Formats: sequence, structure tokens, C-alpha cells
Amino acid sequence: MIIAMAADHGGYELKNAIRDHLTAKGYQVADLGTNSGESVDYPEYGYACGKAVADGRAALGIVCCGSGIGISMAANKVPGVRCALVNSLELAKLAKQHNNANMLAFGGRFTAPEDAIAMVDAWLEEEWLGTTQERHARRVAQLNELGK
Ligand code: RB5
Repeated sequence: MIIAMAADHGGYELKNAIRDHLTAKGYQVADLGTNSGESVDYPEYGYACGKAVADGRAALGIVCCGSGIGISMAANKVPGVRCALVNSLELAKLAKQHNNANMLAFGGRFTAPEDAIAMVDAWLEEEWLGTTQERHARRVAQLNELGK
């Protein structure tokens, strides 16, 4: 499975830590940058990662900026992207169970690498409840219609 990742300068260290964890677990990671602390603009990176997921070049995506807010907003501008900004294990699980989030966002200035990695693993392992509970399938289908 290919997982696309992108970050701005506020999130690139967290992005790299998650990337290295996923690579060690056998996932293929498409790293769309950035790769230094030099200031860049998060909209470009979040949107590029969202496009990679929506176009099918990656199955899933993970984005990081300082807070996680701006880059999640950028990713969610791409139709078909369901990017969840999470900061707890429970939210990471719910993002899959209820929303079938195809992207996660993190704030590199707010979430420790080991915590983010645990959230990513939980998100990857959880099942979407839409396969057995119609209301979740209906709501995600409605999300997918928005912005088309
Ligand atoms: C960059 O300083 C910061 O604004 C950005 O990483 C992010 O937190 C925006 O939402």
C-alpha cells in the first residue's frame, strides 16, 4: 500500500518520524516534502497530498504542519479527501470507524512522534463501520458528494 505524506516546516520532523515508522513496517511512502525547517506554505503541501490520494496515486495520506489545522484544511479542499485532524487514540480510531478518513493530519508542535505513530497504527488497524452499519455508509457517501 502506498501512503502519501506531506508537511510544512512546522511538521516535517513529525512527518519524517511517521514516514520512517511506516517504511519499517513495510508500507511504501510517497514523501511529497518538505524536508527542512525552511519556511514554506502549508496549502501547497496539503493540497498536493490530497490530490495524490484523490487521484489514486496513494491509497491513504498523512499531513503535518505546526498545528495540523492549516494543512488539514488544504487537504480537505480536494474532493474525495476525508482528512481528520486528530490528537488522541480515540479520535484516530473514530476517524476510521465512523468517517473512513483517507487522510490524517497532525500538529508537529502539539503531538509527540510516539503518540502520532500510535494514532497512525490505530487508524490503519481499525475497520470502517460503514460495511456493517448503514448510517455510516450513508454519511460518508454524502461527504463524498460535497464539493463535486
Ligand atoms: C507555520 O508557522 C504554521 O502557521 C503552520 O505550520 C500551521 O500551524 C498552520 O495551520
